[in-house]
Amino acid sequence: MKTKVINSPDLLKAASRKREATRFDQIHLDKMNELMPLVKGLKYYIKTYGCQANVRDEETMRGMMENIGYFPAENVENADLIIINTCAVRENAEDKVYGEIGNLKYLRKKKKNMVLALCGCMVEEPEILDHVLNTFKEVNLFFGTHEIANLYNLLYQCLTTGERIVAVESKAGEVIEELPVRRNNNYKAFVNIIYGCDKFCTYCIVPYTRGKERSRKFDEVIKECQQLVDAGYQEITLLGQNVNAYGKDLDEGHDFADLMEAVAKLGIPRLRFTTSHPWDFSSKMIDVIAKYPNIMKFIHLPVQSGNDEILRKMGRRYTRQKYLDLVKEMREKIPGLSLSTDIIVGFPNETEEEFLDTVSLVDIVKYEAAFTFIYSPRKGTPAARMVDNVPYEVKSRRFQELVKHLEVNIEKSSKEMVGNIYDILVDGESKNNKEMMSGYTETNKMVHFKGDNSLIGKIVKVRIIESHTYSLIGELVNE
Ligand code: SAH
Ligand code: SF4
Ligand code: F3S
Repeated sequence: MKTKVINSPDLLKAASRKREATRFDQIHLDKMNELMPLVKGLKYYIKTYGCQANVRDEETMRGMMENIGYFPAENVENADLIIINTCAVRENAEDKVYGEIGNLKYLRKKKKNMVLALCGCMVEEPEILDHVLNTFKEVNLFFGTHEIANLYNLLYQCLTTGERIVAVESKAGEVIEELPVRRNNNYKAFVNIIYGCDKFCTYCIVPYTRGKERSRKFDEVIKECQQLVDAGYQEITLLGQNVNAYGKDLDEGHDFADLMEAVAKLGIPRLRFTTSHPWDFSSKMIDVIAKYPNIMKFIHLPVQSGNDEILRKMGRRYTRQKYLDLVKEMREKIPGLSLSTDIIVGFPNETEEEFLDTVSLVDIVKYEAAFTFIYSPRKGTPAARMVDNVPYEVKSRRFQELVKHLEVNIEKSSKEMVGNIYDILVDGESKNNKEMMSGYTETNKMVHFKGDNSLIGKIVKVRIIESHTYSLIGELVNE
């Protein structure tokens, strides 16, 4: 099969930050009318890996596909279009995707006209793209994170020429409004407020795969949130790789605190945001969180390391003391605040002392949740070029040790909740027990309790009766 490369990724270009973001008010519709009769009644299936940015992209692609006549497939076997939406943040994220392509490629042999597509952050890496192009001949459409709005045109080319189509342009990125959407959930929603990342932490691939920081206009964000409130949604999460940078690239005079306040005033019962970088978390933001009861008292504040030298090498722009001062101000101003974090263990040449600084910081801050990772070199990032003298066994042992420390407080905070009553936004049946329902507290603790399907999407009161490290058992309280 012929491969047609429309454009391919380039990490240097991807890191360029000179160009202004271009703004469009709709997706590219050129080939939509020709495509519709070709796909009417066909079925699509999307498998998403990675962060909420990818989940939200999936919802846009679902909206686009359903607008031209595709139906969601009940299972992957009866899909005519399979899209694998990938993540490149760590090696194990990529390994999962290789496994998935391996599992699905037989389907394309069965169906001649099937499209097996790969999109998301992995295809933005030149070497990975080369590898998949050579290894998985069954994949016949590759498109990058900046190419979603062009999907109708790419699909049309793929279906009519029978060629493999590669469209991964490394560019600063665009802001496109009025994107179609089919949301995965009818009571909880993600709303993008800023795309891309300009922080370039030395270990991280995201700024290369997602382009420059570019904010959506204030009124566009408010419009989307208002629609969600009107539709009865219970929870909105404002989304960005770094939400604190919101508005800095616009000259509208609104920062993230202004935007958060305006959304809180729309009356959504639960407002969350993720992710916020400690570096430009302002006092004004803390004041807004403290002021509005519907802004959840839960902040995900990735620290990565508790040691100044490692933080400097990571390019994180804050010191241990600055981070601790920020936490202190948050705790003073926001009673009942719960904090979670991300930590990387085993950054190149991390010494035992440096690692122990992270352990001691964890003991001081007392996080109620944490994502911990062993450092994974990402080709093209500055950290991947550093010589690393720490053996993997040492990193692995440190990782276990850190998790033990984190769990002490996670367990303690769960135990302290026993006997109290909390508001739970009900998600659905518990994974392991169909008689139980599960949902989240305002501070993001997962609670299981006896209940029925009629409660899904509602906020109910639950008394906690039992605590485990990562979940709680409760009973419904009749008001
Ligand atoms: N923009 C967000 C999320 C970035 S990715 C933020 O800055 O918080 C989520 C987490 O993955 C990061 O916080 C970091 O802890 C981890 N991560 C990123 N690159 C990594 C790498 N190369 N190896 C291991 N963990 C990594
Ligand atoms: Fe990656 Fe740092 Fe940007 Fe987060 S802030 S996405 S860790 S570069
Ligand atoms: Fe992964 Fe891309 Fe998100 S690398 S974490 S899916 S921005």
